[in-house]
Amino acid sequence: MSFFRADNLVKHFGGLAAVNGVSFEVNEGEIFGLIGPNGSGKTTLFNLISGFYKPTSGEVYFMDRRIDGLKPHKINRLGLVRTFQVVRPLKRMTVEDNVIAAAFAQSGSLREARRIALETIEFCGLGRCKDMLAKSLTIGDRKRLEITRAMATGPKLILLDETFAGLNPSEQDEAIGLIRKIKASGVTIIIVEHIMKVIMTISDRVHAINFGQTLTEGTPSQVVSNPGVVEAYLGEAYHA
Ligand SMILES: Nc1ncnc2c1ncn2[C@@H]1O[C@H](COP(=O)(O)OP(=O)(O)OP(=O)(O)O)[C@@H](O)[C@H]1O
Ligand SMILES: [Mg+2]
Repeated sequence: MSFFRADNLVKHFGGLAAVNGVSFEVNEGEIFGLIGPNGSGKTTLFNLISGFYKPTSGEVYFMDRRIDGLKPHKINRLGLVRTFQVVRPLKRMTVEDNVIAAAFAQSGSLREARRIALETIEFCGLGRCKDMLAKSLTIGDRKRLEITRAMATGPKLILLDETFAGLNPSEQDEAIGLIRKIKASGVTIIIVEHIMKVIMTISDRVHAINFGQTLTEGTPSQVVSNPGVVEAYLGEAYHA
C-alpha cells in the first residue's frame, strides 16, 4: 500500500526527453521536495502527475489507483491538486469569487462552495483581502491565492510549483508558515522550489533531478552534500 508512486515516467516532446525514467514514492503526511536546475523537467513531472500531460511511458499511482491518463478534473476529484508556476487567477474577480469557483468545481453546490471558500480563505490567511480583485494583489498574495484555490478543492495531496518565486524574505517566511500549516492539517505536499534554504528547511525528503533523470534522493542534508547535486544545482545557483 503506497500513498503516491511515480513509476519510470518518461515524457518526450519531439526529440527531447524532458522526463526520462523518473521514479519516486511519497508517504502520506510528508513534505517531499523536488529540485533540479531550470529545464530539468520538474514542471513536466507535475503535468504528468496531475493529468495535464499523458506520459510517453510509465505509470502514476495515487492511493493504490492508477491515475496516469486520467483527466485533471478526475484526478482532482480523487484528491490530488496542483498549483501553477505561472499563477492564473481570474483577474477581474474578487479573491472570494476566485476561491468559490475553485471550490464549486469540486462540491457542485454553490452554498457549500461559498462555505468552503470562506473557511479556506481564513485558513490560508487571505481574509484581509477577500473582497479585493485578484489582479490588484501583491505577488505574495497572488501566490497565496493560488494555494488557497488548490486547498479549496479539499486535496489529500497538493503539488506546489515554485510558490516562493518572486517573494521577499519576509513573504518567504510567511509562505513557509502556510505550508507547515497545510501539512499539519493532514495534507501531503510535493513542492518544487529553487530557493535551497526554503526546500531544505521544510522538506522531509528531497528528490533531485537533472536533464529529466534522477540524480539522488534522501534527507535534505544527504541531498545537499551529494556531489552530483552540488555540481548540477548548487553550482548553478551560486554562480547566478
Ligand atoms: N509543452 C512542451 N513542449 C515542448 N517542450 C517542452 C514543453 N514543456 C516543457 N518542455 C521542455 O522540457 C524541458 C523541461 O521543462 P520543464 O518546464 O519541465 O522544466 P523545469 O524543471 O520546470 O524548469 P524551471 O525550473 O525553469 O521551471 C525543457 O527543455 C522545456 O523546454
Ligand atoms: Mg518549472
